[in-house]
Amino acid sequence: MALCATRLLSLCRTPGAGAGAGAGAGAGAGAGARALLSSHPSSRRLLSYANTKKRQTPRRALMYVPGNDERKQGKIPSLGADCICLDCEDGVALGKKEAARNRIRQILDERPIDFGRSECSVRVNPFETGLGEEDVRVIFGGPNMPDAVHLPKVDSPKDLTDFAAAYKEAIKDNSAAKSCVVGLIIFIESARSLLRLPDICSTAVGLGEHSNLRAETLVFGSDDFTADIGATRTADASELLYARQKIVSVAKAFQMQAIDLVHIDFKDLEGLKRQSEEGARMGFTGKQVIHPGQVPVVQAAFSPSKEKVEWAKQLIKEFRDHERSGKGAFNFRGSMIDMPLVKQAQNIVDMMDSL
Ligand code: COA
Ligand code: MG
Repeated sequence: MALCATRLLSLCRTPGAGAGAGAGAGAGAGAGARALLSSHPSSRRLLSYANTKKRQTPRRALMYVPGNDERKQGKIPSLGADCICLDCEDGVALGKKEAARNRIRQILDERPIDFGRSECSVRVNPFETGLGEEDVRVIFGGPNMPDAVHLPKVDSPKDLTDFAAAYKEAIKDNSAAKSCVVGLIIFIESARSLLRLPDICSTAVGLGEHSNLRAETLVFGSDDFTADIGATRTADASELLYARQKIVSVAKAFQMQAIDLVHIDFKDLEGLKRQSEEGARMGFTGKQVIHPGQVPVVQAAFSPSKEKVEWAKQLIKEFRDHERSGKGAFNFRGSMIDMPLVKQAQNIVDMMDSL
């Protein structure tokens, strides 16, 4: 029997269905927009989470837990992070790579850890290191699948197609595993990858036509990127502004989530809050997290406030009323409201629904 990670079979993501816990079936982008325009009373879900126009597993905090560290893994049930990333890559020393991949396989098969509402995902090593293929063979070679896979250092479409070939080989005898959807989470960590971002995204989306991999998320690997372009990190991260804006824009163009940089000074929760709120304002849907203390700060920053949800629901209601009476732009609490504001409001409502 194939299970998607630690979830029960009934929660296993199946191709064509919504992604992950709490996600309903998603309308296509065009369908969502049309529903909004026609304002059909029954079309509750008009546009979806963070302008992605399809339902996805929320990933407000993407929390790294080293694949070989059983003590840290013991904390998973109490972390409360939307996405747990069992890491084989940079969080694991070279001498522990084999132990990490074998332990992850054991977690998937024997399920000694209760992930609760958290997504169970795995980050493999890049193929250029000579470690990635073996990670894929071991991690995807058993009966149970993780919910998502993280591919670091994707510099070109070929990195994706190499991964997809190894993945296909690993699951070839597992017909049940093929019926799960596995989210594809792509790391952008170099100048080259930033330059080729649209090609990378369209290749990633195309993989879904021939496999159960679904391109869902871009992650900004900010520390590798900083080293790659020869920048110096500053407190306000101004040297990363262009890359962050580009990643958000391209991710949204492909209806994907965008995950912001790591705040490595893990004891500085004030700075983390500031940077998380800034990322949320920029359009990021979540942030990478390395320490348990960072999770609540980040998840709060990427959740709309009660007031904002009330604002959004009321705005949508009044939009529908005005549309029924044939009016376009209208005055809502002293502001001019037209379609872009309605879409933003719908993003907020959809995001709350997905949590
Ligand atoms: N996952 C789960 N539990 C974690 C954790 C993590 N990523 N980071 C820390 N903890 C646990 C610790 O084990 C500790 O519990 P314990 O006292 O029962 O052992 C508790 O949280 C408090 O940790 P603390 O003592 O404050 O930090 P530390 O010095 O043990 O660890 C880091 C600091 C940065 C080394 C650690 O947080 C870590 O390894 N983070 C992940 C790094 C990583 O994966 N990097 C690659 C991606 S960027
Ligand atoms: Mg990195």
